[in-house]
Amino acid sequence: MSDSRTAAWQQIEALPQETLGDLFAGDDARVDRLSGRIGWGEGEDAAGIRFDWSKTHLTDDLLAGFEALAEASDFTAKRAALFAGDTINVTEGRAAEHTAQRGFGSEASVEEAQALLARMQMLVEAIREGALGQIKHLIHIGIGGSALGPALAINALTRDLSYVDCHVVSNIDGVALEAAFEACDPATTLIAVASKTFTTIETMTNADSALTWLRENGVADPHGRVVALTANPERAVEWGVDETRVLPFMESVGGRYSLWSSIGFPVALAAGLDEFAAMLDGAAAVDEHFANTDGRDNLCLRAAFADQYYARVRGCQTRAVFAYDERLALFPSYLQQLEMESNGKRVTSQGEPVGGPTAPITWGGVGTDAQHAVFQLLHQGTHMVPVDFIASIAPGDALNPAHHRILLTNCFAQGAALMAGGNMSADGKDPAREFPGNRPSATILCDDLDAATLGALIAFHEHRTFANAVLMGINPFDQFGVELGKKMAKDIDGGAAEFDASTKALLEASGLG
Ligand code: F6P
Repeated sequence: MSDSRTAAWQQIEALPQETLGDLFAGDDARVDRLSGRIGWGEGEDAAGIRFDWSKTHLTDDLLAGFEALAEASDFTAKRAALFAGDTINVTEGRAAEHTAQRGFGSEASVEEAQALLARMQMLVEAIREGALGQIKHLIHIGIGGSALGPALAINALTRDLSYVDCHVVSNIDGVALEAAFEACDPATTLIAVASKTFTTIETMTNADSALTWLRENGVADPHGRVVALTANPERAVEWGVDETRVLPFMESVGGRYSLWSSIGFPVALAAGLDEFAAMLDGAAAVDEHFANTDGRDNLCLRAAFADQYYARVRGCQTRAVFAYDERLALFPSYLQQLEMESNGKRVTSQGEPVGGPTAPITWGGVGTDAQHAVFQLLHQGTHMVPVDFIASIAPGDALNPAHHRILLTNCFAQGAALMAGGNMSADGKDPAREFPGNRPSATILCDDLDAATLGALIAFHEHRTFANAVLMGINPFDQFGVELGKKMAKDIDGGAAEFDASTKALLEASGLG
């Protein structure tokens, strides 16, 4: 670690650890200082998201310390390099240009992204107009970044307006694909094969089985019902998809950042092109904020300051995210890939040990369900777990308003209770009923959960993840950690390698040895 980074960490670590109660006492401006808003649209269309980090332990001194760390980590230059399309994914020798999909990047990349999106738009329109016959179902086959984003967005956005009935299948376990087959009519089903590389074994095996299913159910030309979403168009054509139904995206768009590219095809088809465009616009509003706001006022960077503080200074090994919105049920699993695949690394971009904890384990769920399952540990367990609450002011349902009122009051009450603590016994002394309090949370409060807001929420977390990576000196855009297990699975399948005694016994017990 450079001397200036070490010095910044020493300054941060030397600061007093005050309680949340103390931080709020007598500081009427704390909430305003530590809350911010990212908005978009004008007049009646104005909307946005409030980010309240006041219930974290951030202080002015900590913020100043982290600003020094950001400077020592070359944050401004690295952020500029991200948006300029420079080769910031140094271990793989390429840029990370997901923001170009939203209009932020080098002129050439933005142009290329727009041309590729226009191609997707044309195919979506053609399919909706019946070019492939009547399409009522879509089976989207992909895994990791080629599935998590589409699944999240479809779940969040297509309650009222789905053009097709969508099934996202990722697992190699045939149970998942069979469930989709059972729900679809082969005569009216379109298959989207989504894979950046077009080589991933789960996706290609599922895709082959989908072709077989179509063929066995009377579809004469199964490949004619396939759309390929990939950065390897040649491979898709070789596999048998007609070039007109191959939707390429740029190699410089990382898998877990690819929802904005043709990987978002099922979202555009099911929710509509306007919704897809709104999602990109919401993300662009966050790009604008992230690119042009400095220091603690940059809300993505501020969130990363808190993340770094809890992981390194307070030793928190996990970070929990609870969406008080059923439409965001898949958000925690989306974030798991984004945050853990990006920053779960032990060496810096230069290959040196990071010298501290890297990405905490991201976990979470949906409120209020989670309150009746895991919140016991959050309130009274021995771990300190920083929590993010996400909610929408506007309800997603049209039922009795009591539903949404109870949902929101519970959300806010949890943050308040984690912070305040107290004792629930009559005499205030029973240790079993003691709540220590002083437990941190942040609240992300959306005006409404529409397509623009979803785009903004995802982009906020992409930039928060990037900011964390810069503060740690990590390259967030590679994922070599997934390779060894993949190779060993291949070796086992090919009978090519010698394994440890336990693995051998397991193989034998399963009839695979
Ligand atoms: O698990 C590793 C990974 O490379 C992810 O980063 C990626 O999102 C996923 O596999 C799927 O890869 P592809 O889109 O190439 O099939």
